[in-house]
Amino acid sequence: MTSKSSMHIDPYERNWIIISIVLLVTFATVVGVAGFAFGIQVPSPEQRVDPRTVADEGPWADPGLRELSPGKYEAYILAQTWVYMPREMSVPVGSEVTFYITSKDVQHGFKLQDTNLNVQVVPGQVSKLTITFDEAGDYNYICTEYCGAGHAAMFGTLHVEP
Ligand code: CUA
Repeated sequence: MTSKSSMHIDPYERNWIIISIVLLVTFATVVGVAGFAFGIQVPSPEQRVDPRTVADEGPWADPGLRELSPGKYEAYILAQTWVYMPREMSVPVGSEVTFYITSKDVQHGFKLQDTNLNVQVVPGQVSKLTITFDEAGDYNYICTEYCGAGHAAMFGTLHVEP
């Protein structure tokens, strides 16, 4: 404490510098392990499509459910101002459904009520999500991105039948 050099660091300040560095290293390690060891990563588009032609060719030209095997479905959903195609679908309870959703015009959202399924729908990109329905009921899918005058009325319904 006799030295008054400009390099003097108060112990209190030094401790906080050490804690800050330890935290930064910890966070960087956690992010690295989560991303590379556990594969937890920012969602990326499943596939890219041309929004100008997606409604005329490929699976979104005939949107809806495809049964792959008993209880396993794919649902191709095309969003546009201000409807989803199809507006209604039905599956039996216990089904596993993989959604492939894209937009042919502007950005929309897709939130399936009473589930944690919620995704942005970006023109040119395909959003893919899989969910198993253990409870029967009507699940509305609603648009969660403001997309113009009809946004509030943009929804569809998935019937999960007993
Ligand atoms: Cu589509 Cu809001």
